[in-house]
Amino acid sequence: MTSNKEQWIVPRAQGYSTNKKLRNKIIRGIENVMFNPYVPGNAEFKPLEAKFASTIGMNHAIAVQSATAGLILSLRACNVGLGDEVITVGNSDISTTAAISIIGATIVLVDILENDYTIDVEKVESAITERTKVIIPVDLYGHPSDCIALRRIADDRGLMIVEDAALAIGAKYDNHHVGYYADLTTVSLAAAKPLSSSGNAGMVFTNNYELAEKVSLFRGYGREFDDSRNPPLSDEHVVEGFNLPMDPLQAVIVLSKLPYLEEWTEKRRMIASKYYDALCNKDVKLPSFSDYANPSFSSYVILTSNRDELNVEMRKRGIETGTHYVPAMHKQEVYKNQLIGCSNLPVTERIADELLALPINPEMSKKQIDFVLMVLKELL
Ligand SMILES: Cc1ncc(COP(=O)(O)O)c(C=O)c1O
Repeated sequence: MTSNKEQWIVPRAQGYSTNKKLRNKIIRGIENVMFNPYVPGNAEFKPLEAKFASTIGMNHAIAVQSATAGLILSLRACNVGLGDEVITVGNSDISTTAAISIIGATIVLVDILENDYTIDVEKVESAITERTKVIIPVDLYGHPSDCIALRRIADDRGLMIVEDAALAIGAKYDNHHVGYYADLTTVSLAAAKPLSSSGNAGMVFTNNYELAEKVSLFRGYGREFDDSRNPPLSDEHVVEGFNLPMDPLQAVIVLSKLPYLEEWTEKRRMIASKYYDALCNKDVKLPSFSDYANPSFSSYVILTSNRDELNVEMRKRGIETGTHYVPAMHKQEVYKNQLIGCSNLPVTERIADELLALPINPEMSKKQIDFVLMVLKELL
């Protein structure tokens, strides 16, 4: 068995080779930030924000410190606060639920679908009350949520959608990048994510100008930014804002990688299809998707009742498999089973017990893919 990242025969996340390939570009960008005699406020994000928005076909992108920050800023921009309810799922990172509580709102959990583990839209309808303000679908593992149906509900009931696409950069839904049907969407660009910085970073995007302006203000102390002015930041605090912009050095790294997004996502899809072909006749449950969804597979996840044993055996052989969100969020000590909706989440609980994430990243060689498939066939 190995626990040292360096020793994995097949690591889960992309890293070393990509960084090596982009080394010169990244170092030039970092030098530019570091030795620029005057870095004007947020100006170094502008190229990344513009390129990001055009890459995913959205009007506005706002570079933030992390997806966690992006979720908090988005909820704030939607005027969510004390007494409001936000509907989401229990199979997510704690950032999703913590973002709701930190601004004083109430977390309402609904169950997920059996086929792709995204929010169950029918359950959303029955969880809406007069206090509900926002729905947060989570595109876990790069599986897009059914946002056409959610948009219909949100429009009928006067709600907003803040999509947590932290793990879903590159995923498409109805031929658009995820986020198209939401009011605001957040992706994580942290290290080890499909499009990664080398620390923490995130991006919020939207087609709504006013919401983009609000997120941008809340991100930057509530002060207006105009790079045609000197200094570009106004002295006045237009709103009570925070200091949550993306670190400029991380912005340089993400900008260097962005042109490869499509290529890397296609490679993930190719590996996912190999997993599917090899495992579809085995005694494991594989995710399946609606015709609208074109996932990006930040992980390829399988369900098996022998999950823990399989995880140990795979890792012993040098393959970095892993579990996700165990126990499910409502069973964590910090929430102590107290969240609204938490007594009726059978699918969420099943996947916490049975889900195993297989390595998937565009740096995987044919030899590594074949090795994982061979070990899986042997162990299943
Ligand atoms: C579903 C989900 N939401 C939010 C986050 C938070 O992302 P970040 O680490 O960029 O704050 C994560 C992190 O992995 C996540 O998986």
